[in-house]
Amino acid sequence: MRERAANLAEFPVDRVRQMFPALNRPGSSMFFDNAAGAQIPQKALDAVADHLLTRSVQRGGCYRESQEVDAAIAQARKSVAVFLNAADPDEIAFGMNATSFMRLVSLAIGQTLAERREIIVTDLDHEANVATWLALEREGAVIRWWNVADDGTLRVADLEPLLSSRTRLVACTVASNALGTIIDVAEVARRAHAAGAEVFLDAVQYAPHGPIDVRAWGCDYLVCSGYKIFAPHMGFLWGRRAALEALPTFREDFIPNTPPSKIEVGTFVYENVVGMNAAIEYLAELGDLCDGDRKDGSSSHRQRLVRAMEAICQYERCLSGALLAGIGAIKGATVYGIQDPKAIAQRLPTFLFNLAGVPPATVAARLAAKGIAVRDGNMYSPRLMKRLVLSEGGAVRASLVHYNTQDEIRRFVNALEEIAGN
Ligand SMILES: Cc1ncc(COP(=O)(O)O)c(C=O)c1O
Repeated sequence: MRERAANLAEFPVDRVRQMFPALNRPGSSMFFDNAAGAQIPQKALDAVADHLLTRSVQRGGCYRESQEVDAAIAQARKSVAVFLNAADPDEIAFGMNATSFMRLVSLAIGQTLAERREIIVTDLDHEANVATWLALEREGAVIRWWNVADDGTLRVADLEPLLSSRTRLVACTVASNALGTIIDVAEVARRAHAAGAEVFLDAVQYAPHGPIDVRAWGCDYLVCSGYKIFAPHMGFLWGRRAALEALPTFREDFIPNTPPSKIEVGTFVYENVVGMNAAIEYLAELGDLCDGDRKDGSSSHRQRLVRAMEAICQYERCLSGALLAGIGAIKGATVYGIQDPKAIAQRLPTFLFNLAGVPPATVAARLAAKGIAVRDGNMYSPRLMKRLVLSEGGAVRASLVHYNTQDEIRRFVNALEEIAGN
């Protein structure tokens, strides 16, 4: 308890909030829908504006602005590589969003199915990381389901019997967009590799909440969406270099058949990639803030980022504890997924719940009328909703990030109590 209080007091949430214009706009919503998309720090907005105002040109030219764009993209590749602890910036590809990268990799893998043609997917995942693999049944893939357990977790013990010499790939999320459950992906990769299979990770939801280390996790591919990580709309894919080299991707003849070129044919949105780079810089500066504003240059970029993400983790666990207790105390509220306060480290501050007798759409609309932004519906995980035996309307999701506060949670819980008629 004392440790929790210390973490809460130490996290510089007031300074964080000052850096996000959307949080300080008079009359703005209270943002509890961050799993759908997070707000952007001034730093990222400035970087996007600067790019568009001064160098909105195509890369690859010999003139000043074009060379600046080349340098900015190279810098962003380096930053994202550090953010993920990738071995090489060329393992990072930029693009529109996570879904299109999932499709790109699945289309390539569909062309390489031989004796190994089984693909393991989960019913916890966002449909983006399910449908794209199911589409490979047309190429002869055989789908195996790794089902979510009753407590909303994916158990590695349930994965083990699905793995065999026929398994080509395990596709799973790092954290659930609906329930907030965090998966032990390092163990998933260890077991999958022992069976000779590859692992594709959807880190879209996990990325804003904790440190990613693709080398420690031992995965083969990983995707993220910039707009969940305090950057504008864009996505990036990391792949182990050898895995990317082996993928048969579509490209025009003049595009080199090497990563990242072979993964990102065509033009992506440069200004948003620049915004992603600035969002990572924001996180590094948060790492300094969490370390007593140390800026003596003695920490590496990676250390600064890990410090930020670990501080975010600690702070968000306090938010999760408070939100869990608050919703749990409302008469007629059902929270889905991990509810044991001792297991708070195994979940994100993303909570799926229902109020007895009030349809999810009504709860969301009544919260919106009070200036509180949440989401209702199936969270694009319709199979999970079925597994939870939820009706068409699904449930309500409140999803927090590190700029949310205990005070906001109190206001949210008060509003919910009123809606529930407590
Ligand atoms: C877990 C997860 N995976 C994938 C996606 C799709 O990401 P994108 O919009 O970048 O394609 C989302 C979007 O919310 C998500 O939450």
